[in-house]
Amino acid sequence: MATASLHSLLLKTQTTTNGYFFKNPITPPSQNISFPNKSLSITCATQVQTQSPTTPKSQSQDRIFNFAAGPATLPESVLKKAESELYIWRDSGMSVMEMSHRGKDFVSIIEKAESDLRLLLNISSDYHVLFLQGGATTQFAAIPLNLCKPNDSVDFVVTGSWGDKAFKEATKYCKPNVIWSGKSEKYTKIPSFEALEQDPNAKYLHICGNETIHGVEFKNYPVPLNKDGILIADMSSHFCSKPVDVSKFGLIYAGAQKNVGPSGVTIVIIRKDLVGNAQEITPVMLDYKIHADNKSLYNTPPCYGIYMCGLVFEDLLNQGGLEQMSVEKSVRSLMNVPFTLEKSELEAEFIKEASKEKMVQLKGHRSVGGMRASIYNAMPLAGVEKLVAFMKDFQSRHG
Ligand SMILES: Cc1ncc(COP(=O)(O)O)c(C=O)c1O
Repeated sequence: MATASLHSLLLKTQTTTNGYFFKNPITPPSQNISFPNKSLSITCATQVQTQSPTTPKSQSQDRIFNFAAGPATLPESVLKKAESELYIWRDSGMSVMEMSHRGKDFVSIIEKAESDLRLLLNISSDYHVLFLQGGATTQFAAIPLNLCKPNDSVDFVVTGSWGDKAFKEATKYCKPNVIWSGKSEKYTKIPSFEALEQDPNAKYLHICGNETIHGVEFKNYPVPLNKDGILIADMSSHFCSKPVDVSKFGLIYAGAQKNVGPSGVTIVIIRKDLVGNAQEITPVMLDYKIHADNKSLYNTPPCYGIYMCGLVFEDLLNQGGLEQMSVEKSVRSLMNVPFTLEKSELEAEFIKEASKEKMVQLKGHRSVGGMRASIYNAMPLAGVEKLVAFMKDFQSRHG
């Protein structure tokens, strides 16, 4: 059974309290729910969703509910396992942080992390899985450097700020074109794929699978019409939140710090035939061939972060894997839930009071304001319920 999410709970809240004017800008107007008889309203930029069946129900009393977009909350079970192994990892006599990255213990850790991720996402041997550094932002440069010559064109579909940043960085290394942008509609839309005017000569088509700031997520993916059929996705903020058919992509990349681990690890899944053609100016640390040939151990990797990602992958597998999350496709969770108050002057108070109630990191991204609750896999249902109850209470006091 899928557990109810912030959104479905919120909608329930509206009908029972006859409270907010609750509007959802990315669903058709007929689906908006409105209760105009109260003055306080909350506008939410995402759709009615449920969290995955793997959503934890609760967490221990002394932990607060952390709604941050990343670094983000991690599964309590994973933190406890890491705690139990922090001082001495298994029979190694030392912590993972102290191990040689070339020793057999760490090699077993990184190999297990890779094979568990391959199981979770059903990644075939046609793909390399790389554990890198520098965040998703470094990939904005690494991808064109590895896949393009300076005069090659590339197609970008820009559905939010991260896609825009990726595009701007690419202009330094190739000739990217924005073939669709949601900017004029404040990044609340995903385009119709048929209407996309893709360049057949483009090296690849780039999308951001889930725009973390605007809360806009692709539910399915455009078919790339470029010669080599290469689709590339920044999946930073919905990586491992649901099954993905990796074979549809030339490259998937994600910073770990949202859904699968601590900051400092960037995961790149790349089709093997796309490796080995980097531009000459490519720094060695950005060259996928170097990392693939050295199994992500060319230089000292972020060992502890990779170990933590491995624990998260193991935890997800133990809970039945990502397939579990495909049970209710039409109501699958979005990861980032931006919302605003009609009386925007009350937002600072909302955030302050929520923090006193041990619910933190609810402030929206500085570029858009408002509030944002990030509900990655590890956010317990109790956190969502507490936030909903708090919103009801806040409304009754300020409405
Ligand atoms: C979708 C997306 N892409 C890229 C980034 C940048 O990631 P990093 O900080 O790992 O460079 C973020 C960070 O929040 C993001 O949400």
